[in-house]
Amino acid sequence: MSGGARMVLMPVSDRWRDQRKLMHSILNNQQAETKFIACQELESKQLVYDYLIDPGNFSLANQRFSNSVIMSVVFGRRAAVDDPELKAILDSVNVLNEYMFSPLLNMCDTFPWLASLPKSLQWWRPGGEAYFKRTCALYKGEYDRLLKKIENGTARPCFGVDLEQGAALKEFTLSETEKLFVFATLLEAGSDTSRNAITQVLAAMATYPAWVTKARAILDEVCGADAERLPSLSDRDRLPYITAAAKEALRWRPFVQTGVPHLLTQDDEYEGYRFPAGTQFTWNAYAIALNEEDYPDPMTFSPERFLDGDLNNPLKGHWQFGTGRRVCLGSTVGHNNIWIAIACLIYCFDITEDPDHPIDTLNTNWGAHTKAPFKVNIKPRSQAHVDLIRRVGAEALNADY
Ligand code: HEM
Repeated sequence: MSGGARMVLMPVSDRWRDQRKLMHSILNNQQAETKFIACQELESKQLVYDYLIDPGNFSLANQRFSNSVIMSVVFGRRAAVDDPELKAILDSVNVLNEYMFSPLLNMCDTFPWLASLPKSLQWWRPGGEAYFKRTCALYKGEYDRLLKKIENGTARPCFGVDLEQGAALKEFTLSETEKLFVFATLLEAGSDTSRNAITQVLAAMATYPAWVTKARAILDEVCGADAERLPSLSDRDRLPYITAAAKEALRWRPFVQTGVPHLLTQDDEYEGYRFPAGTQFTWNAYAIALNEEDYPDPMTFSPERFLDGDLNNPLKGHWQFGTGRRVCLGSTVGHNNIWIAIACLIYCFDITEDPDHPIDTLNTNWGAHTKAPFKVNIKPRSQAHVDLIRRVGAEALNADY
């Protein structure tokens, strides 16, 4: 399905190391602070505007926000709510996720010996190859548009340009297919994950309102109780409670429910049990996240549990970014996406549960990407907040690139 070029599915190898190094060069903490924050703040302005204009479609707004941040950094262009490329990317990720997380859909992954059948008998191969071709075409379209902009001098500085002409070009040699899959990985890993987390936060606001009241009081102290300005990522030092809420968002209802399986590369032993190389391991995300010993009253959304010495390390205290050497490369970017979304949404809106449509937070399909996975009431807090949202929304809409 990926021609061996999609990093998240690669075994540890020189190719994986090269791609990981390349992606680290764009996602590391310094880049997260310098390149991403301006995009996150701009997109958060449109996020609140989209909520004001079309609250029923909050999950599309979350989707656009998350995708536009990474799209801006990678391809130097923003995404629209009804962006056909964005929809195509999400459709494609959906198919990939189904294959990755449904063991029976891809029998050859569950029973690897099937791969020794002659190619003509590998019944899954034509479907996989067709998916591979579609993925290449999808990202080639975006890449070609960027190349055209480079040619006519209208490309904005972005990772794609750097890969064509800048430092990244000199440092990394990639085949055409690998390049497309580096773009694919960044856009896929960067869009869906943050969108799911922000959608979950909305459910947490509606079902556990106590933390929202507290967060809002603190936000009002920092940004003004009369809609003076939107919160910004430069307020992080003064808003530890929002940082704790972003971490709690990642613990509360893990959306990577099966964990991400990995194979042992060598024989291993644990507590007297022997495991041969090739054994598959994963983690039980719900059992870990809802474990009462580590998280007292685990069903409740409670940022307080993260107000500790590890507050500012997005990787500590939950498993949502994975662990070990395959740990998520975009954790700081993802964490900041969630941070700014929580801060702006709580500052601008009253988000409450609709008594006719209670939210079942244990059985919601968070990944639904064509419509909102649950109903919730979203109302601006006051006329002053509406005015603020319209003002910042106009700024965001005018920043068209
Ligand atoms: C809330 C946001 C996010 C969550 C919950 C998340 C979660 C994860 C998880 C569970 C993994 C797999 C870890 C493993 O294999 O053990 C992963 C890998 C990865 N993530 Fe994220 N992620 C998020 C945001 C992002 C963003 C914004 C980007 C980049 C734009 C990104 C890029 C990557 C990449 C490149 C990998 C592959 C690492 C590898 O295979 O070596 N992620 N992420």
